Amino acid sequence: MEHTRRNKVVDLLKSKEYGGEVFVKGWVRTKRGNKKINFIALNDGSVIHHIQVVAEVANFPEEVLKRVTTGSCIAVKGILVESQGQGQSVEIQATAIEVYGVADSESYPLQKKEHSLEFFREIAHLRPRTNTFGAVLRIRHAMSFAIHKYFNDHGFFYLHAPIITGSDAEGAGAMFRVTTLDDKNPPLLPDGHVDYSQDFFGKETKLTVSGQLEAELGAMALSLVYTFGPTFRAENSNTPRHLAEFWMIEPEMAFYDIYDDMDLAEDFLKYLMQYALDHCHDDLEFLNNKYDNELIDRLKQVISDQFERLTYTEAVEILKSSGQTWEFPVDWGTDLQAEHERYLVEKHFGKPVILTGYPKDIKAFYMKMNEDGRTVRAMDVLFPKIGEIIGGSQREENLDALLARIHEMKIPEKDVWWYLDIRKFGTAPHAGFGLGFERLILFVTGMSNIRDVIPFPRTPKNAEF
Ligand code: 4AD
Ligand code: MG
Repeated sequence: MEHTRRNKVVDLLKSKEYGGEVFVKGWVRTKRGNKKINFIALNDGSVIHHIQVVAEVANFPEEVLKRVTTGSCIAVKGILVESQGQGQSVEIQATAIEVYGVADSESYPLQKKEHSLEFFREIAHLRPRTNTFGAVLRIRHAMSFAIHKYFNDHGFFYLHAPIITGSDAEGAGAMFRVTTLDDKNPPLLPDGHVDYSQDFFGKETKLTVSGQLEAELGAMALSLVYTFGPTFRAENSNTPRHLAEFWMIEPEMAFYDIYDDMDLAEDFLKYLMQYALDHCHDDLEFLNNKYDNELIDRLKQVISDQFERLTYTEAVEILKSSGQTWEFPVDWGTDLQAEHERYLVEKHFGKPVILTGYPKDIKAFYMKMNEDGRTVRAMDVLFPKIGEIIGGSQREENLDALLARIHEMKIPEKDVWWYLDIRKFGTAPHAGFGLGFERLILFVTGMSNIRDVIPFPRTPKNAEF
């Protein structure tokens, strides 16, 4: 077949240029038919729908159509015609077919029509070729684009925070070490500890758990910044909502207080839901019909609801007087678990909730203290089916107050001198938050396991692909 520009399936399915010559390239989902005629469902990933290719058996050498099997990759030249069959508006009458890559029917794992999501996780290299993962991956793309669009349209600058970091001040979770030292025979200090001054960076380094501290440095110059990058946490939490490697979006705003922070978080999330409804219609409809028939309604509901705002203290009162039995008991001062968060959102209020005023002892050192001296200006956004989707706070901008906190929490000043410097030179009130990208995608797709909304999940004992 001569070299030609291909037509994308997404464009052809909308085309009305019947009789015109077209070229499509893609992967065969199914082939059916009889001795006279073959119907090939072809998908190129541009859209969830397949285009039907009609091949009259007599027009092709026998060995060509034999090699066209489920999973094979082909190029087709043909004429676009109005479809005779049901379920599609156009189809292609093939005049030439070239097989780029065969897929052996015996061993191709996606031969059978129905497989479990667990099975797909074991073939993460092939699962993008399924309807489900095609839909999830296209929605994931649309959401990352929408995130950049939202911030760009609101005057924020994209700041690239480092992935390798020498600081672990955030305290958000256990960290992965980054080292080039010989693991069998590392240089040792007289006291027996590893001598990291001989390591690549001349100090101990880790993979970052958050870009926030660097975003704060950016906000103290550009006023409005956001990061959007991979973050890493080495906790051994095997839950449907935790990954060891996940992506986080962290806006940081000079001159914002905690209320401005909440307003931004709510507006941002609603914008993303609306963007998905406007731009991912076919994929959402597929997921709605296959996995979760309340999905689209839930997205619309979140847009129209005003998020409920209350304090942690009020939430604890509600939970204690709820009459529910909890796996993890609630008492003022304990961290809320997913079961508590979901009760508030799904049962008590029936809409997203923003909790503020958390006890200082369960939150990070940088959060601004309230006048009561016991609670901090934290805010967590809790969503139906997800629990915590956003965590954020107003930051402590006062040097003395911040110093008191880091001493109280025994964080060595020398580890955060640059962070303290920002409070010495032109400090300003500021606030920010972190949105877990995969938690967002879980909500928008209606999938129930976080391993199914990232192409190659990193979880305990799992980094095969
Ligand atoms: O609440 P977290 O730990 O907050 C921070 O890291 C702050 N530095 C954010 C900020 O203020 N700039 O994490 C933020 C969000 C959580 O609400 C959750 O959505 C997500 O990140 N998240 C995870 N997502 C997947 N797997 C994990 N292990 C996650 N840990 C947190
Ligand atoms: Mg949190």
